Amino acid sequence: MERLEKLLAGTGRWSRKEAAELIRAGRVKVEGEVKLRREEKFPDTALLQVDGETVSGQRLAYLMLHKPAGLVSATDDPRETTVLSLLPEHLQRIGLFPAGRLDKDTVGLLLLTNDGALAHALLSPRRHVDKTYLVRVEGVLDEDDTAAFRAGMTLSDGLRCLPAELERRSANEALVTLREGKYHQIKRMCAARGKSVVFLKRLTFGPLTLDESLEEGAWRALTEAEIAALRAVEGKQ
Ligand code: URA
Repeated sequence: MERLEKLLAGTGRWSRKEAAELIRAGRVKVEGEVKLRREEKFPDTALLQVDGETVSGQRLAYLMLHKPAGLVSATDDPRETTVLSLLPEHLQRIGLFPAGRLDKDTVGLLLLTNDGALAHALLSPRRHVDKTYLVRVEGVLDEDDTAAFRAGMTLSDGLRCLPAELERRSANEALVTLREGKYHQIKRMCAARGKSVVFLKRLTFGPLTLDESLEEGAWRALTEAEIAALRAVEGKQ
């Protein structure tokens, strides 16, 4: 949540003083309603309008999306529907992109942001940000699978994986924690053990945990505490 004058100034189009004047003059609407108090607080995803014109500008935004199956983790795609289509129109125009990719058939936690520096830091192979997935396979998971994941596997194409955790929850379900994010990594690691993945859901991404109150396809703005935790990973706080 941020003060209205600061949200407006954050678009880069007005100073705080100018923003305060626009608010006082009754020229600013939030979610369609005129707001006259510059100190009133709103989420940084709120729809802001000045003289009827939508202003979004350079505001940095951080959203947690519960990605459903069937959408691609991209900002645009010639054939497929992207995760951005789940957002209201005014949030489709502020440069948000998915920080990292989930396969089209993978569900779960996806961070959408327009903070390029933060996304870059979180995805850097040097940072080894943990990601935990719920994995269901065809076949039976055993202790040898846990040991193979822990040892660090080499895939059929020679790709070396860092040690990963595989904690069995039932015969065919496990929590898998990766410290990297290579293409189709979990599917390929399971395939190398002779098991195919039938369901994959990301539960955590670094300090973020999927908010289970979000239905598939739903999103919310990150809290201040969640943003601060991401910044701590970035090394800025
Ligand atoms: N590993 C995969 O195989 N797919 C994903 O979407 C994420 C991790």
